[in-house]
Amino acid sequence: MLVVSLAPAADGAKYASELGVVTSAPRPLNVGLIGLGTVGSQVAERMLSWGPQLSRRAGVELCLQKVLVRDVAKRRTIEISPDLLTADPSEILENPAVEVVMEVAGGDEPMRSYIERAIHAGKHVITANKVVMAKHGPELLDAAAGKNVDVYFEAAVGGGIPLISTFRTDLQANRIERVSAVINGTTNYVLGRMASAGLPMADAVREAQEAGYAEADPSDDIGGFDATYKLAILASIAYEIKVRPDEIYREGIEGIEPVDFRYARELGYAIKLIAHTQRHPGRVEARVHPALVSLEHPLARVEGAENAVFVEGDLVGQVLLVGQGAGGRPTASAVVGDLIDLARSIRRGVQSRPSFSFDDRVGVIPIGEVKTRAYYRIRVDDRPGVLAAIGQVFAEEGVSISSFIQKDAWSHDMTVELVVTTHPSLEASLQKARERMARLEPVHAVSAFLRVF
Ligand code: NAP
Ligand code: HSE
Repeated sequence: MLVVSLAPAADGAKYASELGVVTSAPRPLNVGLIGLGTVGSQVAERMLSWGPQLSRRAGVELCLQKVLVRDVAKRRTIEISPDLLTADPSEILENPAVEVVMEVAGGDEPMRSYIERAIHAGKHVITANKVVMAKHGPELLDAAAGKNVDVYFEAAVGGGIPLISTFRTDLQANRIERVSAVINGTTNYVLGRMASAGLPMADAVREAQEAGYAEADPSDDIGGFDATYKLAILASIAYEIKVRPDEIYREGIEGIEPVDFRYARELGYAIKLIAHTQRHPGRVEARVHPALVSLEHPLARVEGAENAVFVEGDLVGQVLLVGQGAGGRPTASAVVGDLIDLARSIRRGVQSRPSFSFDDRVGVIPIGEVKTRAYYRIRVDDRPGVLAAIGQVFAEEGVSISSFIQKDAWSHDMTVELVVTTHPSLEASLQKARERMARLEPVHAVSAFLRVF
């Protein structure tokens, strides 16, 4: 006899009769939530206001048992009973009634320790925490496997876009060759507002914070750290190797000036923060930096806080996954989706997804050995021989020029701006050319250096 435990009764009975199964007394799945901010409040709101629907899909009643916050007296954006709130982590982590811990607080410590404590206590974990998963994911997943519990982290990468589950299930027949992505909603929003409305970066960042896209410290977004954590997670899953965030080359968007958007557009490009990883023999490439992206490329058309992930697998070919990469509601969609999936497998007593195994022996290629195209904006004296001197530096570094354009001129100091794009070259040579040009007597500044994607 197949027995399933369903609740609440009305929905459960309907579900059971649809399946033609026999119900036993319902035993709810008790969940502890850590964090009630932008994401946590949307997770709680969904669980509290849509309980019967979620429980029916999970096949078991989902019960929000306790919510851990820093300050229980703080005004909340949702209506929640004060009895549910606690500032004491042990009320969740050491509570034998809690079977699933959902962590949507963020940051490395104490959240890494909380997740570890939950696993050691035999609890399943769902987290949106990319910092913890990027830095400690393989160890936590190993610990979870040892305790026969699962760690789900769909919301850690790409907000509401189903990425982890796609890699973990639908694409598992593939050898993944490369992943290129716009994976930070805040920087994409900021770059978009700077390009379209001419907004100063600080104002655009403030808007992204107000919309709930930014990390607690927005320099995590602007500096490319958030995208680096996400790329570390994606690359680790895609290749089943351990890619640590500190192995990934990282540059943020801080140095981009309004004029670069104009020049880029004239050349047929948008500027995006790109996270890119690619398989090479015995090693992988992994880098995060702003780049000029051809207006023809789908990643150039990603707007606002959207994310887009371009995956190439040997069987499937190219797949593009697009959606809202930041914000409370899209992220809650991923967290609560994980909970339903997890609840179903707990109920069936099986792991619904294959577990990970990570090969330690594959390293990341140093950035100097990577081949890429580049864009330089150079302010120089407007006099004979300057172009020749610059051309000579590129030639001596083995860098082939793709386009060389003289742009704006300033009559007060007789300077002009040159914009140079190159063919693919070794990053080390591109950097050497940049340093050598900056030292040339007629060069005032190499004002911008960006890769062309
Ligand atoms: P948030 O708005 O800053 O909220 C953080 C919540 O965690 C707050 O409720 C805070 O409590 C609580 N908290 C923080 N430290 C705590 C501690 N030591 N003990 C107990 N509670 C603690 O953050 P968020 O934007 O919701 O982000 C949460 C997580 O989701 C982060 O890992 C983030 O990277 C990830 N994420 C966010 C987004 C997004 O668009 N926001 C998207 C994807 C993933 P108080 O309210 O009492 O201060
Ligand atoms: N701060 C992150 C972003 C939130 O802007 O993409 C989603 O992880």
